[in-house]
Amino acid sequence: MINKNLIFLLPILILLLNQVHINAVAQDYVPRNIDIERSPKNILVGSFLGGRSHLKPMLDVATILIERGHNVILLTTGKYEPSSEYPGLKQITLGSKTLTPKNSSNRLNIHKDKDDYRILIHLMRLATETYNVTYEKFKNAAKENDIDLFICDVLASQACIDVGNNLNKPVVGFIASMQMMEPKSYKSDPMFGCNISLENESFFERFRCTLIQPLQIAYAYKPFVRQLNDIRDQMNIKSVSEIVPKVSLALIDTFFGFELPQSTAPNVQEIGPVLSEEYPPLTPELSDFINGHKRVLYVAFGTRFFATIENNTKILQSLIEAINNKIVDGVIWALSETSKDEFNPTLTFTDGTQVQTLPILNNIHPHIHITKFAPQFAVLNHTNTKLFFSHGGAGSTHESLYTGTPMLVLPFGGDQMGNASKLIKSAGIALSINKNALDVKDILNKIDFLLKDEHIKKNSKRMKYLARINSNRKYRAADLIEYMLYSSGLNEYLDDDFLKEWIPAESRMGFIKANNLDVYGVLFIIILALIGIAFKLIKYTSNSLFDRKKSKQA
Ligand SMILES: *[C@@H]1O[C@H](CO)[C@@H](O)[C@H](O)[C@H]1NC(C)=O
Ligand SMILES: *[C@@H]1O[C@H](CO)[C@@H](O)[C@H](O)[C@H]1NC(C)=O
Ligand SMILES: *[C@@H]1O[C@H](CO)[C@@H](O)[C@H](O)[C@H]1NC(C)=O
Ligand SMILES: *[C@@H]1O[C@H](CO)[C@@H](O)[C@H](O)[C@H]1NC(C)=O
Ligand SMILES: *[C@@H]1O[C@H](CO)[C@@H](O)[C@H](O)[C@H]1NC(C)=O
Ligand SMILES: *[C@@H]1O[C@H](CO)[C@@H](O)[C@H](O)[C@H]1NC(C)=O
Ligand SMILES: *[C@@H]1O[C@H](CO)[C@@H](O)[C@H](O)[C@H]1NC(C)=O
Repeated sequence: MINKNLIFLLPILILLLNQVHINAVAQDYVPRNIDIERSPKNILVGSFLGGRSHLKPMLDVATILIERGHNVILLTTGKYEPSSEYPGLKQITLGSKTLTPKNSSNRLNIHKDKDDYRILIHLMRLATETYNVTYEKFKNAAKENDIDLFICDVLASQACIDVGNNLNKPVVGFIASMQMMEPKSYKSDPMFGCNISLENESFFERFRCTLIQPLQIAYAYKPFVRQLNDIRDQMNIKSVSEIVPKVSLALIDTFFGFELPQSTAPNVQEIGPVLSEEYPPLTPELSDFINGHKRVLYVAFGTRFFATIENNTKILQSLIEAINNKIVDGVIWALSETSKDEFNPTLTFTDGTQVQTLPILNNIHPHIHITKFAPQFAVLNHTNTKLFFSHGGAGSTHESLYTGTPMLVLPFGGDQMGNASKLIKSAGIALSINKNALDVKDILNKIDFLLKDEHIKKNSKRMKYLARINSNRKYRAADLIEYMLYSSGLNEYLDDDFLKEWIPAESRMGFIKANNLDVYGVLFIIILALIGIAFKLIKYTSNSLFDRKKSKQA
């Protein structure tokens, strides 16, 4: 009887209790204060290479810092003037000495096939030759503008990093490659003649990639490293040449999924893909073309790279045959640096028919749209764009992953091979073509496969999601840079405690101690000694047994 009553009352009790609870919730809640006390600081962004596509991710992060009230100054080579795209950014030029596309040594070097790391050496030589002048420019800019923090493009920017370290200011390194800042023994790069992952390589391959290749490269680098150190000595600059450039914080414009997974130290952070907030829209002409076609192939090889006349012609022929075979129904090719006279005047198809090239390049063909420049993101962003035929540069790759567009990659040189392998193996959204053996049939088969394969579709979707959630991390990058400013800004100069909270002990302990190699070494010696003693004992006892037997027999 009592029990029954209690059960009857229970819901009412719970209701009452809930009511009390709800009333309590509705009472005095006040917002958590998430404001950070900010004071404007002066930041210098430095890049020796320059160039719009290369600088863009750095400037997208710098934009956030400008919006938060800091002064940002860009110091770079080349003719690129970002002021229209990035208002509020002050620019100082290093002079336009280097890598302009048309007559650059880049163009010559890219077509060399073997030993792709020589491209890096070429950069190293350029940077070394101009080091003294560049260093002075950075130093003067830093002093004149009272710079509090340096953001240095890590590629070939020893001067930027050295100035920051010698002025005792925090240096933030910015780069697209994880292996450069946080090398792992199980990773490598096609630039060094090895696979991106050594996981499934044979012992001999791992031996070659871990010992022989690095030694060979170090040997090739040595003259420049020595020359650079001599110049540093002459100029009285504290040398900070290490295998990994000395920066307080490394920001890597990539994300795991595209990059092979690995562990990283707290001061090495993946923050990619860094993309802009806004992109130029489609031109009316392009918009009409894409809307009028259901399966569009977009072709663009970046602004720095060129193919030969023979190869350009082969590519054009593949595009036309792809349309004729109904693999795609429209093609957009942004020619960029390729001019219309870099094609054979006639095309010969596999069935023997011939066609004039120039009318096609002048957009007579209803399903091929040739243009000098295309708003790339907007083209990839359109649902009718189904495939991107690209050179696999970092910017193009990120935009393609972000929009979920599969890629056919024609890597022209050095570092792009690694990008291509990652797209194929890690992200699983691409196939690549051998730049030394362009073949129309091969291109057609690969386009067909990429458009039909279910795995490619699934992976593209997965990558699209991953790229989107990660594309917000440029704000995190800005947060981390601001943290550097405030944690160093407490004193005028960096002291020993600067960034202790992020820098792992490893870097202070040295290789042997950090890996306990001395401990294992001693263990090894103890084991050897024990084995030695054991052998001696066995020998002794068997000898004495033998002796006893002998004496018995006798
Ligand atoms: C380009 O090459 C020409 C000669 O071929 C040279 O005079 C000029 O200085 C070069 N320009 C740059 C920016 O290196
Ligand atoms: C910089 O070094 C080069 C040689 O490495 C030399 O020719 C040049 O005069 C130096 N410039 C300055 C300003 O010291
Ligand atoms: C990388 O490994 C794949 C197999 O996983 C192999 O086909 C390819 O040739 C290797 N590439 C290099 C550069 O060793
Ligand atoms: C190596 O092989 C294993 C087992 O077949 C596989 O799970 C793994 O993904 C491979 N790794 C790479 C980098 O191809
Ligand atoms: C084009 O073809 C030639 C010869 O077939 C080759 O040497 C070259 O590397 C190819 N690639 C490009 C991107 O031009
Ligand atoms: C990308 O596509 C979305 C809709 O799919 C559209 O709202 C947005 O404006 C597009 N952005 C660009 C730059 O084309
Ligand atoms: C991809 O290629 C670009 C050059 O086009 C290079 O700057 C970048 O480091 C490469 N990215 C990776 C992750 O290797």
